[in-house]
Amino acid sequence: MSDFTRVAKSTDLTDPGQMLAEVDDRIVVLMRVGGEFFCLDDVCTHDGGPLSEGTLDDHTIACPRHGAKFDITSGKALTMPATEDTVAHEVQIRGDEVWVKINESGAPPAAPSPPPAATPAEEKRPGSTHDTGPWDPKSAPKPADSSTAPYAAGSISEDLVREELKKVIDPELFVNIVDLGLIYNVDLAPAAEGKTDCKIDMTMTSPMCPAGPQMIQNSKQVLGQLPGMGNVEVKIVLDPPWTPDKMTQEARDQLGIF
Ligand code: FES
Repeated sequence: MSDFTRVAKSTDLTDPGQMLAEVDDRIVVLMRVGGEFFCLDDVCTHDGGPLSEGTLDDHTIACPRHGAKFDITSGKALTMPATEDTVAHEVQIRGDEVWVKINESGAPPAAPSPPPAATPAEEKRPGSTHDTGPWDPKSAPKPADSSTAPYAAGSISEDLVREELKKVIDPELFVNIVDLGLIYNVDLAPAAEGKTDCKIDMTMTSPMCPAGPQMIQNSKQVLGQLPGMGNVEVKIVLDPPWTPDKMTQEARDQLGIF
C-alpha cells in the first residue's frame, strides 16, 4: 500500500510555482500557492495534456494544450473541454520537506492522514472524485447528409441556418456546435440572383482549441449546400469568452454534466 514519499524540499518550489515529480512510478505535478502545497496527477483528463506545463493562477491550473482548468486543491475539472476530474494526492510538510501520498483509488481520502508524531504536519490535502464517467463518443450525434436539404431557394432564415449548423460536430467534444453554444450570431443579407449571404459569429470552447479551422470549414460546407445560399462567412469571436452555461440541456446531457 502506498505511503508518504518525500518528493522535494519546500524551497525547491517558488511561490507560486510548480514542478514535476515521480512518486511510486506515478508522474505528478507538485504546486505551491500562498505557502500551501498541492499535488495532482500530471494528466489532463481531456486528452492527456501535461498539467505541469500549464499555467498556475491562484488555485487553478490550466492545461497547456486546450486550456481546461482544474482546481489544484481537489483535482476538480472546472472548465471545458475537460469534463472529468483528475486525481489529487495528499501532501504533508515535514520540516522543510514535502511528502506526498499517492491516492490509489482516485477518490478523496476519508480523512487526511496525521503526520508522524515527531514532525508536525502543516499541510494536508484531499483527493478528487470522478463523478462523471467518460462520455462515449459512439453515442455522439453523427453529421447528417446535407445533400438532400428539403429547403427551397429564398427560404434561408436564421432558424434554418442554426438547424443546419447542428450537423457540425465539435471533434473534441462530439457535440454539435449549436448545442454547445458556439454560435453567437447569424446575419443574413440579400445577395445577387435572389440568394442570401450569411455571416456567422462563432466562438471556441477555448482560445487554444485546435478544432477551429475544421469547424469553420464544416460550417461553410453544410450551409453552402442549402439552396439559395450565397456567400458564407464564419468569423471567430472570443469576446465574450465561451462558458459552459452557454450549452443547451441536450449538450449537458451528452457530456454528463448535471
Ligand atoms: S488535453 Fe488538456 S485541455 Fe485538451
